[in-house]
Amino acid sequence: MSHLDIHVATKKFADKPVLSNIHLSVAQGEVVSLIGASGCGKSTLLRIVSGLEHDYTGSVTLDGEKLSGISPHIGFIFQEPRLFPWLNVAQNIAFNATSVTDSDARVTQLLAEMGLTGLEKALPKQLSGGQAQRVAIARGLFIHPKVLLLDEPFSAVDAFTRIRLQDLLAHVAQLHRITIILVTHDVDEAVFLSDRVVVIGNQPGTVVADLKMDLASPRERESTALLAQRASVFAALHSAHIV
Ligand SMILES: Nc1ncnc2c1ncn2[C@@H]1O[C@H](COP(=O)(O)OP(=O)(O)O)[C@@H](O)[C@H]1O
Ligand SMILES: [Mg+2]
Repeated sequence: MSHLDIHVATKKFADKPVLSNIHLSVAQGEVVSLIGASGCGKSTLLRIVSGLEHDYTGSVTLDGEKLSGISPHIGFIFQEPRLFPWLNVAQNIAFNATSVTDSDARVTQLLAEMGLTGLEKALPKQLSGGQAQRVAIARGLFIHPKVLLLDEPFSAVDAFTRIRLQDLLAHVAQLHRITIILVTHDVDEAVFLSDRVVVIGNQPGTVVADLKMDLASPRERESTALLAQRASVFAALHSAHIV
């Protein structure tokens, strides 16, 4: 039995198959990126894993338990931060406080980890895009999820902020040993952050390559080994006619 087992036999919208014959086994603490053309079903797959989407054939199993509906063990981070504008940073992070004891200490810890100390009373409109996304990540981690799902989390920020957020996510993954599934269009981001890069083909979406990123940590963006893995991901994208 693996930690997280994802099996989607078929997912359709109306009569159109969007995902087909997907089997993914993810180990505890593994970081897996999903990469593929727009519209190939990546967000749909994440929504299935999160329990937001349940109209499909197949199953998602976490530590031997079949998931049905939204689970407290799974955190979801979207492209936009989706913060509540009327709540301050600390209140946004602790939004799901009913399930966590000593919520104030948890907020303080996450603020420090995310480099947000001092901003606890700030409102979302006072934050930069990068800060707002840090708050969203802190909120996702607040309930101590076993699995964190991220759907193109850094697409809306500028390039330098994006690099800093990638470094932060790498740090979070190491620190919490949390299982991560990351949807991205960015090959460099996928290679830098992942233990595995999974390429999803199109119509219907299915796994066409599953590449292990065998790299020492901490990772260096310009290392020869990393650039070789980057080339292997591009080769897989070429052979699937995605780029
Ligand atoms: N709620 C929906 N109703 C109908 N079609 C949908 C819905 N959500 C997504 N789709 C379609 O399913 C396909 C996959 O979408 P999506 O999972 O968002 O792809 P990706 O995230 O890879 O860009 C697309 O063709 C999209 O138009
Ligand atoms: Mg998407």
